Amino acid sequence: MALKISLVLLFVLLLSKSLFVDSSPMLKRDDDDFGRKCGITKNSIEPKGLPSILNPPAEFKFLLYARGDQIYKCNTTTPQKSWDIVGPKAKLFVNPQKVVGDHYFQPTPVNEGRATWNSTLDCDHSSVIGKINQTYRVEPENIPWLLIQTTKNEGENGAFSDVKYVVRTNTKGGVPPPIGECGDKYSNNELFKSYYTTQYWYYH
Ligand SMILES: *[C@@H]1O[C@H](CO)[C@@H](O)[C@H](O)[C@H]1NC(C)=O
Ligand SMILES: *[C@@H]1O[C@H](CO)[C@@H](O)[C@H](O)[C@H]1NC(C)=O
Ligand SMILES: *[C@@H]1O[C@H](CO)[C@@H](O)[C@H](O)[C@H]1NC(C)=O
Repeated sequence: MALKISLVLLFVLLLSKSLFVDSSPMLKRDDDDFGRKCGITKNSIEPKGLPSILNPPAEFKFLLYARGDQIYKCNTTTPQKSWDIVGPKAKLFVNPQKVVGDHYFQPTPVNEGRATWNSTLDCDHSSVIGKINQTYRVEPENIPWLLIQTTKNEGENGAFSDVKYVVRTNTKGGVPPPIGECGDKYSNNELFKSYYTTQYWYYH
């Protein structure tokens, strides 16, 4: 019990340190429509202080938190070498106890989009696929913030059915190892999982 509470506190602390909206970062129960009313959700948190290049021309709908891995592959086929992105594998949640979706890549692009967010709730089968429109670089140890534009929506009347843009902010981690380690510590085609946390803001 004490461990559970301290984990929740730690979690809230970590999020509140990095949030760009005011005050209480976690959604209140009342704001959490996922699962209660199936699918569609709209919460009262409003994004503030977003860098203007990431500001989508659409209406804010809801916010989800994510944690998981960005997966990279060491590529030594050219002398430059590279850590190529294989894709994310992350969970989406409204609060530390409630996971509502997955974040992953399509195996092949859909209208040029690969990044996908889907609902894993029984009552909501929606998803959105998107491609990067703008990149906003932050600290080198964290993956950039992004503006992603939808290339395809799936599922009717679900949370993601009408999402037009996704904004990624407040990233922690998720970067590949130093390039020098590809071909040295890691061999060609070796995968590296880089843990990250972030917030995804959905607009429609
Ligand atoms: C490795 O990088 C090269 C050069 O960018 C690229 O052409 C090739 O497809 C990559 N290999 C793999 C396995 O992704
Ligand atoms: C996406 O959602 C469906 C359930 O609707 C689930 O079966 C699937 O595993 C989810 N995640 C991925 C990565 O496809
Ligand atoms: C970003 O979106 C704008 C407006 O739709 C478009 O004109 C521009 O080409 C897009 N940029 C990229 C890199 O997709």
